[in-house]
Amino acid sequence: MTHRITKAVIPAAGLGTRFLPATKAMPKEMLPVVDKPAIQYVVEEAVDAGLTDVLMVTGRNKNALENHFDRVAELEATLEAKGDTAKLAKVNESTDLADMHYVRQGDPLGLGHAVLRARMHVGNEPFAVLLGDDIIDARDTLLTRMLEEQGARNASIVALLEVDPDSIHLYGAAAVEATDDPDVVRVTGLVEKPAKEVAPSNYAVIGRYVLKPEVFGILEHTPPGKGGEIQLTDALMTMAGDVEGTGGVYGVVFRGRRYDTGDKLDYIKAVIQLAADRDDIGPDLRPWLVEYAAGLDTV
Ligand code: UTP
Repeated sequence: MTHRITKAVIPAAGLGTRFLPATKAMPKEMLPVVDKPAIQYVVEEAVDAGLTDVLMVTGRNKNALENHFDRVAELEATLEAKGDTAKLAKVNESTDLADMHYVRQGDPLGLGHAVLRARMHVGNEPFAVLLGDDIIDARDTLLTRMLEEQGARNASIVALLEVDPDSIHLYGAAAVEATDDPDVVRVTGLVEKPAKEVAPSNYAVIGRYVLKPEVFGILEHTPPGKGGEIQLTDALMTMAGDVEGTGGVYGVVFRGRRYDTGDKLDYIKAVIQLAADRDDIGPDLRPWLVEYAAGLDTV
């Protein structure tokens, strides 16, 4: 199965307060995961799934994000003069990746508000949303499957991860019904960051969405919700009821590796896991890790 979607929207305008002071003057999406900023993994994932038109929603401190995907003549010239082609290739990797576009979100009024800023660029076609601080391991394909389901069902698609009941309050939680596909559920309700006792399930919404353009009209009329922010979850809740023929919402259940680099602990795990798996530093890191871990107390 193939899909015809070409546009990806990457919200990266949040304040990143969980990562202060690192994020005081730099977006959290620029934090390096081994040797690449988190945002580059996300753009690479979009491109690998065939989405070469990328709109990034940026806020204050946007310069680092824009510069990362642009040429750096001085650095390129210096490396060229030295004949350091390996490092030059690393510099150019992010420059030639995708057709990059940017829009500002003046005030970080919530994820729903950030997505609404993409309306003019996206127009009247389905599009993907990838959160700029959420990394899906490149070995575990998720987005391609979601794009295919969108085409097949003509609905909006969210990614769901089964989490420990003790952490469901950190996510949007979905009420679901089974379909005849064990990896796909119909979403009948959504609650943003529910207490464990009232969560409709342990299915957490993670940072990948494939949305129908009707979401923009709904977001426009979505009042601020949890935390005073315009929540994408609230708009999806409306769409789950299939109002105005939006086609409803389905969830693709993800069973692979995912790292929330906006969370300190998850960020550290991401760096360790991805570094340990790499051919260049993995062979030196793994034995050191084993030795280090052997000397650790678990409490
Ligand atoms: P988060 O809730 O993780 O971002 O949003 P945050 O508000 O920056 O985080 P903390 O809690 O203060 O640490 C998920 C994604 O949505 C983007 C963020 O940049 C992140 O990629 N976002 C969030 C926006 O673009 N605009 C917003 O108004 C809020």
